[in-house]
Amino acid sequence: MSAVLHLEGVFKHFGGIVVADDITLEIERGQILGLIGPNGAGKTSLFNIVTGVVPADAGDIRVNGVSIAGKGIHERARMGIARTWQNMRLFRTMTVLENMVVAPREYAGESMVRLCFRPGAVRRADEQACEQALAILERMQLERLADNAVTDLPYGQQKLVGLARALMNDGPCLLLDEPMAGVEGHAYETMKAVVRQEAQAGRAVCVVEHNISFIKDLCTSAVFMSAGRILERGQIADLLASKTLAELYFGT
Ligand SMILES: Nc1ncnc2c1ncn2[C@@H]1O[C@H](COP(=O)(O)OP(=O)(O)OP(=O)(O)O)[C@@H](O)[C@H]1O
Ligand SMILES: [Mg+2]
Repeated sequence: MSAVLHLEGVFKHFGGIVVADDITLEIERGQILGLIGPNGAGKTSLFNIVTGVVPADAGDIRVNGVSIAGKGIHERARMGIARTWQNMRLFRTMTVLENMVVAPREYAGESMVRLCFRPGAVRRADEQACEQALAILERMQLERLADNAVTDLPYGQQKLVGLARALMNDGPCLLLDEPMAGVEGHAYETMKAVVRQEAQAGRAVCVVEHNISFIKDLCTSAVFMSAGRILERGQIADLLASKTLAELYFGT
């Protein structure tokens, strides 16, 4: 089966720090790949490279066989690369619903020309985005919070809103940066169920997590990164038994 997301020889450095050193990996339809590694390993940087937040210095990234080299953040989002952020990055003065409505793959109100000359089209797109957002919130049992300011929600629910917002982009790739950090109880179970459903629906999912139980529950395979390099990859059980992980990650 050909990969949905394919990174080949990706390299990136910030001054003297190499955050991606010849990274090659593939994620297939329906796969949830775990990406684990110590703080500063380069996990978030890899998501930033894939989503176009920072340019790679070398290497290629393909989505369903199409290279995304040279494409900007918005174009990559339109091609269906959705992500959550480690630090959430929700718009703090907006409600839950407003946060979501500005997030679909193609946000019509973003174009000033369309806004001025085709206001009807923008309104219709907003209505569609609202419907889509409410359906996602309902699925995540958050619909009653749609009109709440995001800052009024407990932390776990804010993390769920971060995922809900990412789901407004229903493209083939979903990248989740520490979705479970600070999430417990009901929100934890909801997060797990929704991520699993997204993969079952055929998306290629990559999850960065320090919560190893979450990785064990959801992923069959994972890669282990340290100092910008992939040092181990394979089935979760084998990975967790590896000496390299024991030394560099678990500190034993
Ligand atoms: N834009 C940037 N400019 C300079 N250095 C950066 C930049 N982004 C990340 N770094 C550095 O790159 C290294 C890798 O950071 P990154 O955030 O990718 O790690 P991480 O694996 O996500 O860690 P954590 O588990 O703590 O989230 C760190 O040393 C960080 O300070
Ligand atoms: Mg990170």
